[in-house]
Order: sequence, then C-alpha cells, then structure tokens
Amino acid sequence: MIRSVVVGWGAELPGNPVTNDDLVARGVETSDAWIAQRTGIRQRYIADAGITTSTLAFMAAQRALAKAGVPASSVDMLIVATTTPDQTFPSTATRVQGLLGMDTAPAFDVQAVCSGFVYALSIADSFIRCGQARRVLVIGAETFSRLLDWSDRNTCVLFGDGAGALLLEAAEGEGTMADRGVLSSRLYADGSKNELLCMTGGPSSTQDMGHLQMTGREVFRWAVQRMAESAILALEEAGISPDQVDWLVPHQANIRILQSTAERIGIPEEKVIITVEHHGNTSAASIPLALCEAAENGKIKAGQLLLLEAMGGGFTWGSALLRW
Ligand code: UT7
Repeated sequence: MIRSVVVGWGAELPGNPVTNDDLVARGVETSDAWIAQRTGIRQRYIADAGITTSTLAFMAAQRALAKAGVPASSVDMLIVATTTPDQTFPSTATRVQGLLGMDTAPAFDVQAVCSGFVYALSIADSFIRCGQARRVLVIGAETFSRLLDWSDRNTCVLFGDGAGALLLEAAEGEGTMADRGVLSSRLYADGSKNELLCMTGGPSSTQDMGHLQMTGREVFRWAVQRMAESAILALEEAGISPDQVDWLVPHQANIRILQSTAERIGIPEEKVIITVEHHGNTSAASIPLALCEAAENGKIKAGQLLLLEAMGGGFTWGSALLRW
C-alpha cells in the first residue's frame, strides 16, 4: 500500500514578535493579562508591508526541500492552504511554484480557513495514494494580520502571520497503523454556520475585502465539540486508543480550546503540542508551524504517532492520523 511520508519540513515567521504589550502601545484597548488569560497568547508575528503570503510560503517550502535534500524540480504538485492569497487570482500556489522554478507541476490553493492545512494534507495524500503524484509540497501560509479590523479588540489580538511546509513522498507501506505517513484523514463542513466567522466583504459581493468578524463564544463552543468528535472518530476508525497517540497537534486558536479538546479526547496536556502562546492563531499555517517547531526541537521523533485536528470558518473541520 502506498503511504504519503513526511520527508521534509520548514517554517517561516516574519520579522520580530509583537507582544501583547506592543499591541497596547499601538493603541489596542486591551491588556497582556486579558489576552493571556482568555487565549494563552503572549505574542504573534506580523509581516511588514511588502512581505506577502507567497513570500512566507516560498521560504518555508525552500527549507522543507533543503531538509529533504531534493530539488524543487522533482516535486510533482504544490498545494497552498491559505485564506490570505497575495491576489484574488492567480493562486498563491502558482506564485510559489514559479518562485521555486517547478516547470509545469500543478499548483493550486485550498481555502478552508483554519482547517486549510488538514484539507490540503488530505488532498495531497489522495493524489499520492492513487499514484498521480510521488512528491507533493503541502504549505499552510497566511498573512492574517491583513484581514483584521484593528479597532475590534475582540478579534485583532488573536491572529498572526507565518507559514509552514511539509514535503510528502510516496513510500511502500504494509497497510497497517504501524506504517509511517498519513494513516487516515477525515474532512467535514457545515455551511449553515458561515456567519459566525467570516469576512464582511469579498470580490463577488462587495468588491472589496472587508474585515474579519467573529462571534467568539459560539465559535469557541463549536470548535471544542467538532474537533473533539472528529478526533475521537478518527481514533475509533483506526482502532487506536488515545494513549497510543504520541502527540496531539491541534490548530492553535486558543489555549483553552486546546485544553478542552485534549481532555475530551482523553489525551493529557503534556502530549499536546502548544505554540499558540508565541505564534497566536495563524489559521492554515498553525499546524505546520507547530509540527516544524516540535520536530526541530526534538519533541516529535521519527516513527511517532500524531493526531492532527483543526476547525475554522465555514465551518470546516477535520482530523488526520500521521506517523512521523
Ligand atoms: O481558529 C478558529 C477561530 N477562532 C477561535 O477559535 C476563537 C474562538 N473564541 C475565543 O477564543 C474566545 O471566545 C475569545 C478569546 C475570542 C473571547 O473570549 P471570551 O471568554 O469568550 O470573552 P467574551 O467575548 O465573552 O468577552 C468578555 C469581555 C467583554 O467585556 P464585557 O462585555 O463582559 O464587559 C469584552 O468586551 O471581554 C471583553 N474583551 C476584551 N477585553 C480586553 C473582548 N476582547 C478583549 C480584549 N481585551 N482584547
């Protein structure tokens, strides 16, 4: 059985960290204590003017290729999960494909907001398992700071910018849960919840971008419920008990969401990769950024079993089991 195995990874965070106190100094009516207590966030990265999503994605992709020791020309497909494309079109993925000099390899964006990376990973895995691609770059990249209304303290303190990339490669497996690579993935959506987390504009409605708006409490409640239930189902279907999972790698929205979800699944907090305090919520970039950091600092080791889960605007949500 063909498996999609992670052979490279790379991340990019723009500029210097912006602390909660820095936001106060910039005029946001908030405090470090409020943000830290309600969200766990202490700082985030905010891209300077001129740095775009494709810049961050390109840097992360280059590092993933270098880690794997393979040239961009050997990659069969590039997928960018993003909600903050450089332009409405062409896709950010084609821009990155061009910057990497990937000849004619297909490239496209996936738009599933904070679940985008899990969606993109699942799509990449499907292409690899059906034999249509051997190497796929899967990138989550965002400049979410550009979507924010800086006068809305309910939302502007939550998000940050960054990018993370994984290089997946086809490898022969036994077809068991002991294989390395993507072992399963499950995607979901509920379009009846569009209004709870959305942009106020867009090309086809208002012809401008608008800004991010969120009903925080409702999103919080649904995030915990949906992420926990999809993760529990993924484990049940795979015949894996929570204690067999080495690391839970959730979308990094809010420390309290991460803690509640882990508790419902039955995974102790010391087995949860947490980066939200220094990255903020980077939407589609949050899971690959967390994976890269934990792999680099030696927490995540080859052969370990990871459970990824995410939930975002749409709503969209999903989970994946991945043996590193
Ligand atoms: O990636 C997926 C998408 N996003 C999420 O998952 C986020 C989900 N939601 C959340 O994380 C939380 O709902 C928030 C962090 C957004 C808000 O936390 P909360 O505990 O639900 O607070 P709240 O919205 O109920 O607000 C409580 C109070 C309000 O004051 P009053 O009306 O009680 O006087 C707000 O005005 O906190 C006030 N407040 C703030 N105060 C200082 C809201 N934002 C701030 C702020 N600084 N930044």
